[in-house]
Amino acid sequence: MMVNQTSTETNLTRRKFLRVIKGILLASGVTPIFGPIVAFFWPSDLETMPSDPVLIGDEGSIPVGGSVTVRFGRYPAIVINTSSKGLVAYSAVCTHFACIVNWNQESGMIECPCHAGFYDPLDGSVISGPTPAPLEKLDVLFEDNKILILAVQGS
Ligand code: FES
Repeated sequence: MMVNQTSTETNLTRRKFLRVIKGILLASGVTPIFGPIVAFFWPSDLETMPSDPVLIGDEGSIPVGGSVTVRFGRYPAIVINTSSKGLVAYSAVCTHFACIVNWNQESGMIECPCHAGFYDPLDGSVISGPTPAPLEKLDVLFEDNKILILAVQGS
């Protein structure tokens, strides 16, 4: 009689344990599927394009040929110090399928790692690849020896 009670208690404990494991597996399997859907319908409070300038750093903090990628509202922006045009800034979101682009100093192009899209750093135009449109240009401002970027007014 005593043996049966212990066996039943063990089964219940095992059953509870398996339910917890099943719940964890279900939650971890469902989250990647429904997470983006929830994020689409209830986006964070970050603006897509900030209405205020975003501080990049001190003037001279980006060497010629260098770049920085910074948060610009919900998405990143890329600021490049070109030798012929000085500082230029663009949304770092590829116009093909929204991968984040990178500056490649050696090739002298802005590159999208996802499908080999290439952009011209001087105007953000498409050089090659499946990218359908230029990168979105941002304004670069200087104020009190600081570099700021801002969405192009009127866009
Ligand atoms: S997402 Fe950039 S080339 Fe496809």
